Amino acid sequence: MALIYPIGGGKGGVGKSFVTANLGVLLANQGYSVAIVDLDLGGSNLHTFFGLNKSKNGINRFLNQDCKTLEETAEPTAVNNLFIINSFNSQLGISNLFSAQKLKIINAIQKLPFDFVLLDLGAGTNYNTIDFFLSSDKGMFVCIPEPTSIENTFRFINAVYLRKLQHLLKQRAFNAIVLELSNGSKNAVIKAYDIVHSVIRENPQKGEKLKSQLDKLEFKFVINQFRKSVDKTIGFKIEKTCNRHFYSRFQFLGNISYDERVHNSVVARTVYMEKYAYTLTAIDLLNIAKKLTGVEQSTVRVTEDCYETV
Ligand SMILES: Nc1ncnc2c1ncn2[C@@H]1O[C@H](COP(=O)(O)OP(=O)(O)OP(=O)(O)O)[C@@H](O)[C@H]1O
Ligand SMILES: [Mg+2]
Repeated sequence: MALIYPIGGGKGGVGKSFVTANLGVLLANQGYSVAIVDLDLGGSNLHTFFGLNKSKNGINRFLNQDCKTLEETAEPTAVNNLFIINSFNSQLGISNLFSAQKLKIINAIQKLPFDFVLLDLGAGTNYNTIDFFLSSDKGMFVCIPEPTSIENTFRFINAVYLRKLQHLLKQRAFNAIVLELSNGSKNAVIKAYDIVHSVIRENPQKGEKLKSQLDKLEFKFVINQFRKSVDKTIGFKIEKTCNRHFYSRFQFLGNISYDERVHNSVVARTVYMEKYAYTLTAIDLLNIAKKLTGVEQSTVRVTEDCYETV
């Protein structure tokens, strides 16, 4: 069965597609079969990172039953072992899926016969995005070291947990707790951990069961567009906060350095890792890919403007 990593984060333009494309390349280079799936249905552009503007729309073809399986819509990229399932914005309404269509996509993703499946999600916290994120018990958040992005990441994580709790507790019980916590106010911001605390308080046995189900979730996150002036430990601080509040495991995989050449690679429609394999940013990505596959992180020595692998 594939290891499925939805890649989300709430805020737009932080590098979700960049990270998906480049981790896809690195995992494929390690010999794994990898599918990257564009699930940013209203604003898809994963194909552009590979210069594939004439490819067919895989998600649409699957939903329209032009292809029986989602696997059939996977197209090879120029990188060995790496396949892409596209979703262009050609069809009105594709971003507003019916629930049955969403479930059809999620079920098909769970059957994809690859070692790794990376899902490139759109920005925001709409139900499509959150449900795609919850199609796996694993997931990855991308955020940048700015308060707006960090705030949106926490909002996204909270939305993921609220949706998960809605499924686990069943709608009526969930609504009753939300009503109690919101104190009648429609605008109250409900925190997922308050719901868990409420269940534990009311019914400790049910609370323990809930905690053990949340414990199965395993989330990773990266800080992208990292600049030298930023506090290097910010990722670890976020990791600590998440582990304290969400009853699941969060692992900070590392910082990905900001590099002007990312822009050049996008303009050239060539995936960054293929064009700039020896930059700080490339080595950051490589170390993150190694952590994902459990291969020991190579020892690196940091010099003024490059890393040397020792
Ligand atoms: N490490 C980086 N260094 C420099 N620029 C970067 C880096 N990562 C991403 N970018 C820039 O940020 C832009 C947005 O990246 P990307 O499209 O991957 O974001 P996104 O989170 O997928 O956005 P959206 O929410 O719109 O889908 C890219 O076009 C690229 O120019
Ligand atoms: Mg994107």
